[in-house]
Amino acid sequence: MKKVYKCELVSKTELCPGIFDFVVKAPEISETAEIGQFLHIDCGGKTLLRRPISICDFGEGYVRFAFQVKGEGTRELAKFEVGDMIDMMGPLGHGFKMTPGEKAVVIGGGIGVFPVLGLARETDSAVFLGFRNKDLVIMEDDFKAVNDNVTICTDDGSYGYDGFAIAAMGEYLLENKVDMIYCCGPTPMLKAVKQIAEYRNIPCQLSLEERMGCGIGACLTCVCKTTGKGMAEHKQVCTCGPVFDAKEVVF
Ligand SMILES: Cc1cc2nc3c(=O)[nH]c(=O)nc-3n(C[C@H](O)[C@H](O)[C@H](O)COP(=O)(O)OP(=O)(O)OC[C@H]3O[C@@H](n4cnc5c(N)ncnc54)[C@H](O)[C@@H]3O)c2cc1C
Ligand code: FES
Repeated sequence: MKKVYKCELVSKTELCPGIFDFVVKAPEISETAEIGQFLHIDCGGKTLLRRPISICDFGEGYVRFAFQVKGEGTRELAKFEVGDMIDMMGPLGHGFKMTPGEKAVVIGGGIGVFPVLGLARETDSAVFLGFRNKDLVIMEDDFKAVNDNVTICTDDGSYGYDGFAIAAMGEYLLENKVDMIYCCGPTPMLKAVKQIAEYRNIPCQLSLEERMGCGIGACLTCVCKTTGKGMAEHKQVCTCGPVFDAKEVVF
């Protein structure tokens, strides 16, 4: 049974309009957290269901997460102030599986950059982060503080590499051999990364997002299609994921 904790908000920053970065005191969660796992958060207000938000970072006694205001739940979450207690369940799901000594590519898009910060720090990797434009670039300093090989990409060329992060990654892969690709981002990015990984025969892990209900495998709201047969054709993203082997995922 997953435990629920009341965690004190100790830091709140608005990274850019409508995108918030929270740090909470959460000793029990930080003790067992893995990169790529998520929290299921009671956002307060009139929301009934918890909302899933990835763990962005964690350390002794604290957990950091960041989120974009999308609808009612995240709008309510953004109203919490430093000193308030937030009710959260976690850490939930399966995170990324890293192998010591591997050479990796880490690629994230938009709010999908949050769960890959730990990978940028913990792996010997080249990191590609994609955003629509310069105003939406977030966490550049955080990534550059932990990794020397970070490429910021903007779709409209207003900052950094001019084009999609997958294009920058594709160019990198022409000249560099890697053992693993890790990705979190919007579905078109996940699909493209899966294709490139298969074409180049590189193992790849994708972090998927589905709407969630219970967060613990009971309601089947979050199922995704996989290559499994029979009952295994559909898997719960909350308990079997959110990180999957790309080969297993059917888009
Ligand atoms: C494992 C996991 C990790 C996540 N991590 C983060 C994170 O680190 N930061 C972050 O900002 N968001 C993250 N999300 C997405 C976040 O959970 C949703 O944006 C949030 O639940 C929306 O709730 P809401 O009440 O504000 O909006 P709603 O009113 O419920 O929805 C607003 C809009 O967002 C869409 N939406 C809602 N939930 C999802 C979803 N799960 N995937 C895609 N679209 C959705 C709806 O279709 C609608 O268009 C994550 C989702 C999952 C499943
Ligand atoms: S959210 Fe209920 S089974 Fe995944």
